[in-house]
Amino acid sequence: MTSENIYLIGLMGAGKTTIGRQLAKALKLPFYDSDKAIEESTGVDIPTIFEFEGEEGFRDREQKMIQKLTQLQGIVLATGGGAILREENRNSLKGNGYVVYLQCPVDRILERTRRDTQRPLLRTDNPKERLQQLLEQRQPLYLSCADFKIDTGVLKSKTVVSRILEEYKEVNHYE
Ligand code: S3P
Repeated sequence: MTSENIYLIGLMGAGKTTIGRQLAKALKLPFYDSDKAIEESTGVDIPTIFEFEGEEGFRDREQKMIQKLTQLQGIVLATGGGAILREENRNSLKGNGYVVYLQCPVDRILERTRRDTQRPLLRTDNPKERLQQLLEQRQPLYLSCADFKIDTGVLKSKTVVSRILEEYKEVNHYE
């Protein structure tokens, strides 16, 4: 059995947590979510961290958490959508895991995040424009990290999970 980690990257609302949980269950591996881990370690939610420490403060915490979590072996990790912005994080992810980019069209993300209050970057008058900017800025970074990419806009989560598992098992010679 392999102990290579699976790391999920992609914009907010692309399905990292949902897919990550299902992958972990299928592989009988523990599931981690870097945002959740930050909330547990600080005792406050992500919007509160943005409010008091700004985005940079949040990114510092995120970097420390990614550094810590990527030292674990045999885990599935869902990262925050902006985790790939820092080179240190990209190196930590690429260094010891199978990186899957969950790609999702902006309109689909908008539908999924319409009632969301937990994503400070979407607290704007024009979330669509914001998401388009984020995608434009981040797409090359997501692609530069990814071992595999899959579209989560149309496919059912079950299908996404089984496609990722097929690829992962092939690459890892995993039965
Ligand atoms: C962010 C995405 C969020 C969270 C924070 C910043 C981003 O995570 O880390 O609000 O920069 O895209 P999700 O992708 O899990 O929503």
